[in-house]
Amino acid sequence: MFPVTRPRRLRRTAVLRDMVREARVTPTDLIYPLFVRHGKGIRAEIGSMPEQFHLSPDTLVEEVGAAVEDGVRAVLLFGIPEAKDERGSEAWDDAAAVQTGVRELKRAYPDVLVVTDICLCEYTSHGHCGVVRDGNVLNDPTLELLAKTALSHARAGADLVAPSDMMDGRVGAIRSALDAAGFEDIAILSYAAKYASAFYGPFREAAGSAPQFGDRRSYQMDPGNAEEALREVAADLDEGADLVMVKPALAYLDVIRRVKDTFGVPVAAYNVSGEYSMLMAAAQRGWIDRERAILETLTSIKRAGASILLTYHAREAARLLR
Ligand code: PBG
Repeated sequence: MFPVTRPRRLRRTAVLRDMVREARVTPTDLIYPLFVRHGKGIRAEIGSMPEQFHLSPDTLVEEVGAAVEDGVRAVLLFGIPEAKDERGSEAWDDAAAVQTGVRELKRAYPDVLVVTDICLCEYTSHGHCGVVRDGNVLNDPTLELLAKTALSHARAGADLVAPSDMMDGRVGAIRSALDAAGFEDIAILSYAAKYASAFYGPFREAAGSAPQFGDRRSYQMDPGNAEEALREVAADLDEGADLVMVKPALAYLDVIRRVKDTFGVPVAAYNVSGEYSMLMAAAQRGWIDRERAILETLTSIKRAGASILLTYHAREAARLLR
């Protein structure tokens, strides 16, 4: 006798398929990462990331306006400094590109959620995410610099700050600095489980942030570890993180799921530059269907348990979802 169960019955029509869909991506899930530098009228395509651009504050405002038209409501800003130094001092300069971009964005689009990445690697001459002494990245002396950077972003008007450096204790340091300055309402999205990944390759060209010696394995996580990701998340939540992130997304879908199941907090996942550029490269060659691949990718991250998706595909995805 044929089995009574026929799963295909619920796949017969689009209406049925839509009704029984478990994971659905919506434009409200998306955060669109952007790169800001000083200047005017700049819109320079990033070689390693097709259709992504270096923008000056004025073109940033234009780009966000267009993204809002597409349905995007949140952005994440990275800064390209004018000058780098040992400590990355432009990171906490109130007149730096990110801070200027935040102020102009907030003036033009007060309702757009503005998240800023807090890290020193774009700003340091050695390209590491913290203070370096004798070839080592020092944890505790870095915390004060990260806190100063977060404060400067908060003063500019950022809604949410996102530390991506992976120093121990940085969420607590940033939280107390924000609170002490009256920014107790500014939330922290912590890059809690951030792996030492090959998939950041294109970003390092985009941000000019490749380490000048060594690599990031003494602070970012080993790709083999998932239990450790849970400890990282627990620590960041203890220190006051409002939202936690897993990064990259696709090679770490299991980690997203475990974080979600263990803590029951909103989980963000970063569909990083390498994931973006691989898809775009294959699509440009006609090897995969770009639109379907984008939606399937984002749906998989949602299905794994993420509710916030940071992705360079945000504008296109928002258009496709409308
Ligand atoms: C800064 C930072 C990186 C990314 C986000 N913040 C690069 C790195 O850690 O080397 C990667 C983003 C991407 O690849 O899209 N620490």
